[in-house]
Amino acid sequence: MTDEIQAEIQEELAAAEAVRPEKFEFAIRIRGLKNQFGDAVIHENLDLDVRSGEILGIVGGSGTGKSVLLRSIVGLQTPTEGEIEVYGKTLDAITDQEESRDLRRRWGVMFQGGALFSTLSVAENIQVPLREYYPRLDQKLLDEIAAYKVSMVGLPPDAGPKFPAELSGGMVKRAGLARALALDPALLFLDEPTAGLDPIGAAKFDELIRELADTMGLTVFLITHDLDSLYATCDRVAVLAEKRVIAVGTIPELLATEHPWIQDYFNGPRGRAAASCKQAIERQDGKS
Ligand SMILES: Nc1ncnc2c1ncn2[C@@H]1O[C@H](COP(=O)(O)OP(=O)(O)O)[C@@H](O)[C@H]1O
Ligand SMILES: [Mg+2]
Repeated sequence: MTDEIQAEIQEELAAAEAVRPEKFEFAIRIRGLKNQFGDAVIHENLDLDVRSGEILGIVGGSGTGKSVLLRSIVGLQTPTEGEIEVYGKTLDAITDQEESRDLRRRWGVMFQGGALFSTLSVAENIQVPLREYYPRLDQKLLDEIAAYKVSMVGLPPDAGPKFPAELSGGMVKRAGLARALALDPALLFLDEPTAGLDPIGAAKFDELIRELADTMGLTVFLITHDLDSLYATCDRVAVLAEKRVIAVGTIPELLATEHPWIQDYFNGPRGRAAASCKQAIERQDGKS
């Protein structure tokens, strides 16, 4: 191994070390965020802290700006006002290309719809971010990393050479997750990852997220409509309404608030079903 590659590996390890969860109380801090498209104000005075190592669920009615919030954090949408810090750095304020790349390298995103490149195999999809960030990795190593990611998300080894059209919905989601995890991020963004899955597929995916987050020490920003997912995976939940985060806390903490949207959401028929299902599972676990 050349000295140059050795030095590069050392640099990578140091950079990964720098964002370990115990070094930051908050992975993300948002203050006074405003997003506006023409006359339409989507966010105003939005504050939110995402704690390092937590799975934070983001809920809110359709069109309340959950995806726009995600895009603002990862720098795909420039806010009208406000500040967003990720691991103590403000993406907007970074002028150095290298530094910006270093920060972006710390997160993985599974966008709404989770689109994979349809003309690439699963393994090739996973290799896209690897090639971008580590252009000098040789094909053998790229294949090994992709195979490892495929197994990590619970896909069979023969899924690697398959194309997205050849996979079931659940397998496509897992492949999307594998791509989001390609660079071993500290921070994972998931935009409605279980949408379109049947309840069993969705529950298995939730379990996978929880497991990966626990073993890898991930911080997860999870946008979801799925009440079962919230109960099964999230440490805390942030509620987006009235252009801002109106409440954030554990589900019992949210239930204690009076806000009508929150009450409707968690205490409506679907909310009660999800809660009683969770209690039934806990009773079952207690017995076994
Ligand atoms: N690039 C854009 N240009 C104009 N309007 C947008 C853009 N992106 C999102 N919007 C609008 O912002 C609002 C919030 O969108 P979005 O974040 O996708 O909602 P959701 O909470 O369902 O994810 C919607 O009314 C949407 O039409
Ligand atoms: Mg959305």
